Amino acid sequence: GSTMTEFWKEHSRQATVEEMMLDSHAQELTLHELPEILSLLPSLSGQRVLELGAGIGRYTSHLLTQASHVTAVDFMESFVEKNRQDNSHHGNASFLQADVTKLDFPKNSFDIIFSNWLLMYLSDEELTSLTERMLGWLCPGGYLFFRESCNYQSGDCKRTFNPTHYRSSAHYSHLMTTTLREESEGAEKQVFGFDIVLNKTVQTYIKMKNNQNQVCWLLEKVGRDTACQEGFRTFQQFLDNQQYTRKGILRYEKMFGAGYVSTGGHSTTKEFVNLLNLKPGMKVGLFYFYASIVLNMFYMSFNVHFEVADATKREFPEASFDVVYSRDTILHIDDKLAMFKRFHSWLKPGGQVLITDYCCGEKPWTPPFQEYVKQRGYILYTPPQYGKFLQQAGFSNVRAEDRTTQFMQVIQTELERAGAMEDEFIKEFSEEDYLAIVNGWRDKLKRCKSGDQRWGLFHATRN
Ligand SMILES: C[S@@+](CC[C@H](N)C(=O)[O-])C[C@H]1O[C@@H](n2cnc3c(N)ncnc32)[C@H](O)[C@@H]1O
Repeated sequence: GSTMTEFWKEHSRQATVEEMMLDSHAQELTLHELPEILSLLPSLSGQRVLELGAGIGRYTSHLLTQASHVTAVDFMESFVEKNRQDNSHHGNASFLQADVTKLDFPKNSFDIIFSNWLLMYLSDEELTSLTERMLGWLCPGGYLFFRESCNYQSGDCKRTFNPTHYRSSAHYSHLMTTTLREESEGAEKQVFGFDIVLNKTVQTYIKMKNNQNQVCWLLEKVGRDTACQEGFRTFQQFLDNQQYTRKGILRYEKMFGAGYVSTGGHSTTKEFVNLLNLKPGMKVGLFYFYASIVLNMFYMSFNVHFEVADATKREFPEASFDVVYSRDTILHIDDKLAMFKRFHSWLKPGGQVLITDYCCGEKPWTPPFQEYVKQRGYILYTPPQYGKFLQQAGFSNVRAEDRTTQFMQVIQTELERAGAMEDEFIKEFSEEDYLAIVNGWRDKLKRCKSGDQRWGLFHATRN
């Protein structure tokens, strides 16, 4: 609204980088954050890019060098003019002075929309309306990148008034993934929404300002099959609401041991991590659901950075990691071979992959097992089949072990521990929760005994 226009009029008089970033260290911050932010974008080569809230063009000048065309939009005349002066010589850009709350473009006009510090200057209503329009401007499979100051003001510039919306990062994630757009192609109607490919904290601000509140997102425009996933909008929402609810996670943690939500807790983790012979300075990629809870044992090392990302979509450069480690997670992923090929490319030569996962026996399965797999939505294979996938993905020294016996021992131990703390468990949760979890554990044993459920350990290296 008009207060935002007033705010930016007050901060666009000189059109300097300090004024625009509302920070006296703007130059130094830019030096570090530009390469970081640009590294998170999908390939720009040949892409039509829309940049919203482009300011004086800190980012425009870089986007231009790779994209086929950039449309840079800002509502402050002095900023747009500075951007035009500095960058119009590239010849593949349009500079537009416009308010994004009133902007429109034809359907499928862009492959990538980029915005750095814009959405926090919009109200919830303006943001929802812009999100709907952006879903239309992007082609299917197109990306939206945005970065915002969350929770508090980050810049050190004094402001006579500050109408900025410092939302929580959960608020952004929720708002952006629940906004939908219906498009019709003749008689066909299709619903589109955004899936989160990546959501992480800007490392430059952690390092230079000890500030955790700079957060960015990469979203992908995808078709939403509303019939699928039992009415949940995204696969992530399905998991959040079914298996990994807050209470569900706390109950799991009680069974597996504090800090763990997968089989065997500390004991199996110690055994498997030992297999890797980790050395200081190695880079390990960990793939978990709910990593922040699983990984709290590593918090104190200060050498971990967390991302919420879709492992099937996140792009890492070739040879980024020494180790890829994943525990009881791949069961949720459809195309194992494609996933393992990606792991392979992310590993340095000599790098290792270590996976444990829920597996299955040869078909036919008993009806209760069929029902269980269907209800959970798991995609299961036998341990030898996992080994074959790893080989096909290019891995060497593939070790694929059926560890069902160990799995059953672990469950037995966890059941005994649960029995010993029955009163405590019931006090913390309820009798119903206790029975649900203990019966769940007993069912796991039954499924193992019938030969249907298996647990596998997989270890392999990249040559
Ligand atoms: C903090 S600056 C960031 C500029 C640039 N993205 C960067 O990171 O260098 C925020 C920019 O958003 C622009 N802006 C805020 N609200 C806007 C709106 N409704 N329409 C267009 N631009 C807007 C401001 O004019 C300002 O240039």
